[in-house]
Amino acid sequence: METSFWVDLWREGRSGFHQAIVQESLERFWPALPVGSSVLVPLCGKSLDMLWLEQQGLEVTGVELAEQAAEEFCAENELAFSVANDDDRKVYRLLEKNIRIIIDDFFGFAETNDNNKFDSLYDRAALVALPEEIREDYVAACRKLLCDRPAGMLITLEYPQDLMQGPPFSVPVKELQRLWPGRLSCLDCTEVLESLPKAKEAGISELKEYSWLLR
Ligand SMILES: C[S@@+](CC[C@H](N)C(=O)[O-])C[C@H]1O[C@@H](n2cnc3c(N)ncnc32)[C@H](O)[C@@H]1O
Repeated sequence: METSFWVDLWREGRSGFHQAIVQESLERFWPALPVGSSVLVPLCGKSLDMLWLEQQGLEVTGVELAEQAAEEFCAENELAFSVANDDDRKVYRLLEKNIRIIIDDFFGFAETNDNNKFDSLYDRAALVALPEEIREDYVAACRKLLCDRPAGMLITLEYPQDLMQGPPFSVPVKELQRLWPGRLSCLDCTEVLESLPKAKEAGISELKEYSWLLR
């Protein structure tokens, strides 16, 4: 997916993947972590899940290439923020919350970031936003940024890929097990076809959302 695909999508207000509520399985299953632990949220968009994670006492870092997402996140949640340039990338820092959003391509960020490793990962609609050929690189980038035994959660989708073009892409369970060998356990599996009209229009009859614990 070209960078311009996502930037155009934000500019045209087509952020249909955004949820107006916190991900239900996040609230149910997020593993308790010590206050002050860091959590990495790749491809974060303007997800409200970042606010929920921060309320659990975590230091949240989102990485997002579309600056408009960060702008909308702050405006829609009435959050005061500052913007600074760190290492040649823009960083949105909330003034009253432990949340920062780094405006960058996630792959470039992982390559150049040599700071402390993150304690945990929260991936909703990030892995599934990427085509199959770069998903391995994406997981390698996550691993580079994370500590040796990261905690966290992943939310993924599975459906017959031949019936619909992504994003969102289907990431079969087998592929997930290959990408994160021995590290994932399934927390929940829900039918979410109603939430994606384009899947119904494509003739898909089952769209499963999986929630995974990373351990
Ligand atoms: C499907 S959306 C999911 C957003 C968010 N995780 C959520 O749950 O609402 C994918 C997001 O990733 C961003 N994105 C796509 N490719 C990226 C990349 N290589 N680096 C950083 N952000 C990227 C897009 O701009 C978009 O906001």
